[in-house]
Amino acid sequence: MLRQVILSAAGNDRVKTVVAGAPVSRGVVRRFVAGEAVEDAVRTTRELQATGLAVSLDHLGEDTLSAGQAEATVRAYLLVLDRLAAAGLAAGGRCEVSVKLTAVGQAIDPALALDNARTICTAAAAAGTTVTLDMEDHTTTDATLAALQQLRVEFPSTGAVVQSYLRRTEDDCRTLAVQGSRARLCKGAYREPASAAFQSAAEVDASYVRCLQVLMDGPGYPMVATHDPALIALAGTFGRAPGTYEHQLLYGVRPAEQLRLAAAGQTVRVYVPYGDQWYGYLMRRLAERPANLGFFLRALVSRS
Ligand code: FDA
Repeated sequence: MLRQVILSAAGNDRVKTVVAGAPVSRGVVRRFVAGEAVEDAVRTTRELQATGLAVSLDHLGEDTLSAGQAEATVRAYLLVLDRLAAAGLAAGGRCEVSVKLTAVGQAIDPALALDNARTICTAAAAAGTTVTLDMEDHTTTDATLAALQQLRVEFPSTGAVVQSYLRRTEDDCRTLAVQGSRARLCKGAYREPASAAFQSAAEVDASYVRCLQVLMDGPGYPMVATHDPALIALAGTFGRAPGTYEHQLLYGVRPAEQLRLAAAGQTVRVYVPYGDQWYGYLMRRLAERPANLGFFLRALVSRS
């Protein structure tokens, strides 16, 4: 309920102006976002890797409405991949990049988004790493999976994200549970209608278990993207050796658990967003957890 209210408020322009403009927001943002500049992304990657964690960098930005804006996003990815390669942080996939197709032009023209994604995949391959396509709201799922299929012809290690809250996802997992496929399973972070998505947490969790079973039974590389203690524990019960799948958690969320899993010999990747377009990302993190909202409101009150 609270989650729906926050996700609704997030789309309101007045709320956006207040939150994005408040200086204190920046302090709260720092917990979940590496910073606004490419240097912040590279520094954070280096720091996380030094503690045994792998990284996926996300240049923040969504709902790109012009080809120029999409091109700027592509340039940002090329720049960060170049910097990572120069710093020796990308090779072997130790730092990959996550890309939202809407940020590279999906809403303008799917062919433009595919071309732009291909440019980023080419740069990632040259840097010794790969790309994972983030998944956005359910209206983009078909187009994103179609783009994935095309990209995998040339770049077979391109990863996809599937969301257990969508009713279709168990079937999508069957399609993705194939040799060489990298599939990140998360619960899903957008406001979705009941026709497309399970609405209760219990249904979303039960779907997650079914989807995880499909991915773990297949020959692909499952990426278990959740902070949920029960689901993290479940991932270890399928008899898969460490290194044949990985855990993924968000930057700033359960950092002690990230280190605990890595110390136990698991591959753990931290999803690290950076850039100045942090508003939508922050709102989804606040919607996930009332405690995060409390943290945000306390910061607003104590500094204003
Ligand atoms: P859930 O929200 O049920 O939380 C379970 C427990 O985890 C909580 O009880 C709490 O202990 C802890 N926890 C969860 N979130 C927390 C937070 N923000 N702060 C502190 N503790 C928290 N979504 C999407 O739609 N498309 C995408 O492409 C991606 N990509 C993605 C990549 C990676 C690496 C991750 C980890 C997540 C995503 N997501 C995503 C987000 C995902 O869909 C989901 O919204 C969040 O991961 C929260 O769901 P949990 O599985 O953690 O469970």
